[in-house]
Amino acid sequence: KLPEPFTARLPIPPVKRPSRSTSDTDHYELTAREANAEILPGLRTPIMGYDGIFPGPTIKARRGRRTVLHYRNQLGVPTVVHLHGGHTPAESDGFPTDLVLPAAGGSGYASQAVGGTTSAGTRDYTYPVDQQAATLWYHDHRMGFTGPQVWRGLAGFFLITDDEEAALHLPSGDRDIPLMITDRAFDADGAFTYPAMDPHLISMPGIDAAHMRGATGDVILVNGAPWPELPVAAVRYRFRILNASNARRYDLTLDPPAPLIQIGSDQGLLAAPISHTAITVAPAERFDVIVDFAAYPVGTKVVLRDGSGQVMRFAVTHKATDNSTIPARLAAVEPLPKSAATTRDWMFRQGKVQSMGHEADGWVINGREFDPQRIDATPKLGEVEIWRLASDTQHPVHIHLSPFQIISRNGGPPAPTDQGWKDTVDLSPHELVEVAIRFDDYAGRYLLHCHNLEHEDMAMMATFQVTR
Ligand code: C2O
Ligand code: CU
Repeated sequence: KLPEPFTARLPIPPVKRPSRSTSDTDHYELTAREANAEILPGLRTPIMGYDGIFPGPTIKARRGRRTVLHYRNQLGVPTVVHLHGGHTPAESDGFPTDLVLPAAGGSGYASQAVGGTTSAGTRDYTYPVDQQAATLWYHDHRMGFTGPQVWRGLAGFFLITDDEEAALHLPSGDRDIPLMITDRAFDADGAFTYPAMDPHLISMPGIDAAHMRGATGDVILVNGAPWPELPVAAVRYRFRILNASNARRYDLTLDPPAPLIQIGSDQGLLAAPISHTAITVAPAERFDVIVDFAAYPVGTKVVLRDGSGQVMRFAVTHKATDNSTIPARLAAVEPLPKSAATTRDWMFRQGKVQSMGHEADGWVINGREFDPQRIDATPKLGEVEIWRLASDTQHPVHIHLSPFQIISRNGGPPAPTDQGWKDTVDLSPHELVEVAIRFDDYAGRYLLHCHNLEHEDMAMMATFQVTR
């Protein structure tokens, strides 16, 4: 039996404290471990959580200060930490075969580390945080098992701020709220259900063929609570919306209607705010929006809807003073050139793959399944390229390392929600999206892939090597 909507209060993931700070670096100790969470009332859900919680703790970073994650894997399976949207040197980017093995020991994973490295129980990830204020997130990225390991809870926010953002007087403090939206399925005892080929996630990657379009659930969680409610004052709030679902998209609107005023995209603030009546959020995308609850009389219950379904509810409880602003100009967004010497084509479609040990239906890029030992493209450090991304069906495409700008969709203009610096772009069926991307600062091997996590696990990834 599903819980009553709007009975849980919206949880806010705790902000993690550094274990040590120096003049230019914040150090964090982060442990992935098993735990039980009460997600459905009265039931216990076994999870895999960073620090034993889902979502994991929020890490806050300031531009120009390095963050070092001293990560420990106390789970029984290998893991990989990736900072999604991070402008990160390759050795800390969490390549899917750079495995952190279980701290308790675990052999037999050598073949899963092909083209990568293994570390025994712990690994340090160094993030320079030399990038614009933005809503990033960190999550598991183990080759072939990202879907089930994120589904069980391995995801958290990583929020970057900078001086440019601080000068704007956007809603802040308890009026700046991260919203991690996920869908999950549960069994009668409260355990997550997931159609993995190997329920222990030890050896056999992938999911059963009936679910190859992606794993979805009938319960919508925000920050790990089912259809929660947040009491709000009749003032402006900033919501950092992240779709951390494996495969589901959300068509978000407010009911009664009010504008969702977008101020930021995946990779930071827009040049200027854009007012939307609806926002479609694909897996891994972030939308930074302001909602002005002064538009509603005190006592109004405002539902955040997903099409005909619902996600959460805001209860406008009282009036309060509001010193926040939504400036007409937000951040400097340097437009990248719309043409370049190098153009690359990436075709995302269904195809046969061998990664599950036999030939099976999976997902391929340019006709090939992921091979961690193959380099698929070699862009030059510092150069702009045009990448043409094409689809058979819906694919949210994510590129590591470098933010990009969307130039066109099927030869026409980008969508109103395509503005600003992006790291994930949702391809509709039979669509061709052109993006401009520049490969700055770090040479090395990186990934691009579909962020439908089941497509990803069923081989829809490719590599590029940024060369000097
Ligand atoms: Cu959010 Cu390659 O991942
Ligand atoms: Cu896909």
